[in-house]
Order: sequence, then structure tokens, then C-alpha cells
Amino acid sequence: MSRISLTQYLVEQQRSGGHMPAQLRLLIEVVARACKRIAISVNKGALGDVLGSAVSENVQGEVQKKLDIIANEVLIEANEWGGHLAAMASEEMDSIHVVPNRFPQGEYLLLFDPLDGSSNIDVNVSIGTIFSVLRKVTNTRGVSEEDFLQPGKQQAAAGYCVYGPQTTLVLTVGDGVVMFTLDREMGSWVMTESEVKIPADTKEFAINMSNMRHWAPPVRRYIDECLAGSTGPREKDFNMRWVASMVADVHRILTRGGVFMYPWDAREPNKAGKLRLMYEANPMAFLVEQAGGGATDGTRRILDITPSKLHERVAVVLGSKNEVERVTQYHLQQAG
Ligand code: AHG
Ligand code: MN
Ligand code: MN
Repeated sequence: MSRISLTQYLVEQQRSGGHMPAQLRLLIEVVARACKRIAISVNKGALGDVLGSAVSENVQGEVQKKLDIIANEVLIEANEWGGHLAAMASEEMDSIHVVPNRFPQGEYLLLFDPLDGSSNIDVNVSIGTIFSVLRKVTNTRGVSEEDFLQPGKQQAAAGYCVYGPQTTLVLTVGDGVVMFTLDREMGSWVMTESEVKIPADTKEFAINMSNMRHWAPPVRRYIDECLAGSTGPREKDFNMRWVASMVADVHRILTRGGVFMYPWDAREPNKAGKLRLMYEANPMAFLVEQAGGGATDGTRRILDITPSKLHERVAVVLGSKNEVERVTQYHLQQAG
């Protein structure tokens, strides 16, 4: 069976659908190359002195792991010089990183979670890189945080790379979702799924159950009903998974369906949720919708939310459409 590479896919997109300006194509190729480099570091593990914590904290007050910093640097370095970007933003940087003057400025903005699932690095469980691409819509010469504060529906592309048993790159440019597996002998990304579709129904949910006592009633109701199984109102048994790497949980959902939730909870009542809107929820919501699933914060479509700051947090419910609609209904019923 002949398979196509990432480059071929991008060239075909450029020729046919008009989804692929040259700068966007370069951007995606550069991000994909950076992910290869991150994969090499991840795979070296203890041999590469990449495990454990660094001495620093990020803007969210989380202790940074060595790999959080390595992955961040790899992505910045790879993306600075190509002329496709105006600026970047990352979970691991307090403010935006403007492309230095010595390089030409491009028309795109790149956001990333360089290493998602940091708590899983040292225990050799799947982790990943998540990215989101926006266009700089203002014509002003300079670039500021304001330029980034666009709703997720304006993303030009989004994706993630999961460093697991296989290294897989999952991408959308607004024309469905495709998956590429890293062929290590060739060093190239080879398309292994051309049309990812999430089944509308599922018997699998993903949530951190240890927070149950802190949940809001609609989340509690939904999970209680799942747990009641075949003799409860859902009349079927459910299975639970929680990897604690959003990339890995979303990858499972894109592969065989399911619902993922990181809801608001009463541990930190003033925060909307744990996950970050612009570089975790938005790219995943774009992918999930492009694969036929749904993504809300309990009441609103995630992609419709206009962020008010770079590191804004949001509650997340995403995955199989009928389940996401059910959870959203439960929230709306309570609100109404
Ligand atoms: P990050 O490692 O980038 O900070 O993100 C971790 C996130 C997400 O990947 C995962 O779903 C969630 O945090 C796990 O949180 P808990 O440890 O609270 O379950
Ligand atoms: Mn993350
Ligand atoms: Mn991270």
C-alpha cells in the first residue's frame, strides 16, 4: 500500500482546497520537525538527563520539568527564523515571544503547550505537544498579546504530537483530521489515517474521579448515571480511562470515541477549570469538531469563547457528540 508523507499532504492541500498558504505550510512542517526533535529527547529519558524537575516555576505556579523547558526551547528555536510567524505564546512563558528583528516577520501566530502531561514524563507514560495557529488579523507593524485574543473558531490549523508507543502527529487545517506516524528509519511523517471520525456514541468516559466531591451537580449527575451502568438510566455499562495527559486521552477519543472532562471544581472556585483555553482546549476542540465530535465548557461551544488573557483557563467537555450534548444539557438545565 502506498502511503503519503506530511509534505505530500500539505502540497495537495495547497493545490486543491486553497486551505494552505505557503507560510502556513512552512509553519506546519517546522512544528512537525520540532516534534521529531522533542521525540528524540523524550525517548532518551534517563540516558539523556532529561527527566526530573528544573528549578523554575511557570506563570501558572507549576514547577517546570526539564522536558517542559527543553520542548519549549526546541519549538521557539525552530520557528523563529522561517519568516512565517509574527509571535509565539506558550504555557511555559509568561508573555508572548515576538520574532526577533533579525528575522522577517510572518503573518501567523503560534501557541503551544510544549509538553503536555508533565506528571507522566518520569514514569514513562504517553505525553505530547499541543499547538494552535492563528492569523495576525491586524495590519499594525507591532504585535501584542491582544493579537492572540481571538476565539478558537479562527484557528487556521491545530494539532498535537503524542509521544507514546508510537509517535503520532494529528493535524487539522479545517479540512478534517489526519494522522501521521513517525517512521523512525526514514525520519519522516507518514499518513496513517486520512479521515478521522469520532463515533457519536460511546461507553467510555475520562475524568479525574478523585475530584468527585468538588464537582458541580451536573457533572456529578452525568458520572453517577454512567456508574449506575446497565441497571441505571443509561441502561449500559461504562468504562473509565484517565491517562492524566490530555493528548493521550484525546488521542484515544479520536481513535475509538469517548468523552473527556476537566470540569470546574470547588478546589479553586475562582478558576474556570484547570486547562488552558488557548493552547490546550482550543486546538483539541478544533480537532474534535473536525472529526465530528463536540466540545463545550459545559454551556458554551469552546471555539466561540473570546479569550480575555493569554493563559485563561476553561472547563472542558469534549468527545463523542451525543455524550457532550448530554453533559451540556445537564448544565443548561441547571442554569435555566
Ligand atoms: P500540563 O502537563 O501541560 O500542565 O497539562 C496537564 C493537564 C492535562 O494534560 C491532563 O489532562 C491534566 O492536566 C491532568 O490533571 P490531574 O493531574 O489533575 O488529573
Ligand atoms: Mn497541558
Ligand atoms: Mn505543558
